[in-house]
Amino acid sequence: MRLFVAVPVADPAREQTLKLLGQLRSASWPVRWVHDEGLHMTLKFFGEVAPERLDVIAEALRFAADDAGELALELGDLGAFPSRSRPRVLWIGVNAPPALELLQDRIERGCEAIGFPPEGAPFQPHITLGRVREGQRLPAGGLDEHTAAFERVPFVGRELVLYESVLTTSGPRYESRLTLEFGG
Ligand code: 2AM
Repeated sequence: MRLFVAVPVADPAREQTLKLLGQLRSASWPVRWVHDEGLHMTLKFFGEVAPERLDVIAEALRFAADDAGELALELGDLGAFPSRSRPRVLWIGVNAPPALELLQDRIERGCEAIGFPPEGAPFQPHITLGRVREGQRLPAGGLDEHTAAFERVPFVGRELVLYESVLTTSGPRYESRLTLEFGG
């Protein structure tokens, strides 16, 4: 099973993100947009994992979540990987208190101890909206236009969710396998 752990995007930020997604979809860009359900901010991607490892992953995550309190989060700027000038993955950044980085680091170290090596790239909190189709490009200035009209709405991170990414003919669907509320 293909697994990752994330903080779900709650209202009112979720509603605002869905509104933006609706506007972006109607721009007819060559992008595979994410589905409306399961909007999330990934903290750790595990990749393909044998189902019998679920228990040990759950234990590592429980340990990290127990030490964390609710997080006051806020939608940030619209951005892209690898860069806004060469967009392949489109996302909304998340403005977060230092506690988020501590939590992500605790998850990273807990998962390293059970055999999942850390990501090479520094953690950059974001909510992925879509991926530009192979060999295609966005119209120049498209992202700028939407960034200007975008409101920075808050949301509270209350839990960690371990998702399974299930491939379907209409793209990956994210199914929750475990929810861990923050302890503090
Ligand atoms: P992304 O939002 O930056 O694309 C499910 O694929 C989730 O896991 C996405 O949120 C995705 O992050 C994240 N993820 C992190 N590393 C990944 C990888 N190497 N391959 C696929 N998804 C990855």
